[in-house]
Amino acid sequence: MQINENFLNLEQSYLFSTIAKKVNEFSANHQDAKIIKLGIGDVTLPLTKSVINAMTEAVLEMGNENTFRGYGPEQGYEFLKIAIKDYYSNKSVNLVADEIFVNDGAKSDLGNILDLFGPGTSLIPNPVYPAYLDTNIMAGRKINFLDGNESNNFLPMPEDGDGGDLIYLCSPNNPTGATYNRDQLKVWVDYATKNNSIILFDSAYECFVRDANLPTSIYEIEGAKSCAIEFCSFSKTAGFTGTRCGYTVVPHELLVNNIGLNKFWLRRQTTKFNGVPYIVQKAATAIFSKEGQEEVKANIDYYLENAQIIRKGFSELGFWLVGGDNSPYIWLKCGMDSWAFFDKLLNEAYVVGTPGVGFGTNGEGYFRISAFANRANVLEAISRIKAIF
Ligand code: MLT
Repeated sequence: MQINENFLNLEQSYLFSTIAKKVNEFSANHQDAKIIKLGIGDVTLPLTKSVINAMTEAVLEMGNENTFRGYGPEQGYEFLKIAIKDYYSNKSVNLVADEIFVNDGAKSDLGNILDLFGPGTSLIPNPVYPAYLDTNIMAGRKINFLDGNESNNFLPMPEDGDGGDLIYLCSPNNPTGATYNRDQLKVWVDYATKNNSIILFDSAYECFVRDANLPTSIYEIEGAKSCAIEFCSFSKTAGFTGTRCGYTVVPHELLVNNIGLNKFWLRRQTTKFNGVPYIVQKAATAIFSKEGQEEVKANIDYYLENAQIIRKGFSELGFWLVGGDNSPYIWLKCGMDSWAFFDKLLNEAYVVGTPGVGFGTNGEGYFRISAFANRANVLEAISRIKAIF
């Protein structure tokens, strides 16, 4: 029996599992401590009214013999794909419905997509959302890192030398909250085109972009349809972290050796995936109604205001930081080892954040604070943090 020994090259546990374990241990030993969690980017506002109404209606349909549904199309119901397609038209991006594949959130497909590619090299930012790195390690791919640092404001650009046939980009970025502008993304698209690389673009935080000049999809950039796959999710947009729904866009123009990857992805999905529940897809479709969009905007505004409070608090304490303007994450220079900063915040302020080094070696000395929390907790966390510095 041969096992996939690439797993031996992974960290012993996934970053957010390690943090959850540490926090649980702390909480067991400090039962009176009111811990405030600004670590994993998990939403706190409940599903909105339109979403709940659509979901309830769908539940009732499922309980009625005449409207009950069994297996749905693996790639998603047409009604949701059309809603997503229309959403893209508002960004002046024209997609056809069968370029959109509904999934159970961006994380799964960001890993699953590797099924389409043979051995090769991936170009991965450092720091980075750990799922990109871990899935590439599991697949045994060679990895080149792209340096994100203070001098490039954590927005690395292509450099001569080591590249990769797959390039991972996330904007607005997890973990740093930094956001690429159009010119920067154009440089990436041109680079990928020239080098026959494919950009895997994670736009899970697109709805946090408030600056109208910033792109919210890689397809806003000319040439991107023939070199990029986009992954998005309703987790952060509409509070679907526990409900699970998102989508992957594989354009028909995307060819490798004259073979369309859209067809390969359809083949992969119909074989390995049975689709997202009807109830969930109905709920997700409601996000795109007029009321749904207004509700989502109000929720995102709330988190962005939290982000401003966090930014202000840490700026007043003199920390260098980035993010939080068009993103729910604030990335700060913590002035010490990032796990030491994690321990200090947890032990002295009962506040949980995420150590930068958990996102890669370039994250050492940095720390991520998430704005997904209720307002009172954010204010309380900042005031406790101010008291310990
Ligand atoms: C994060 O905190 O980085 C995210 O919540 C993780 C995720 O989206 O899977």
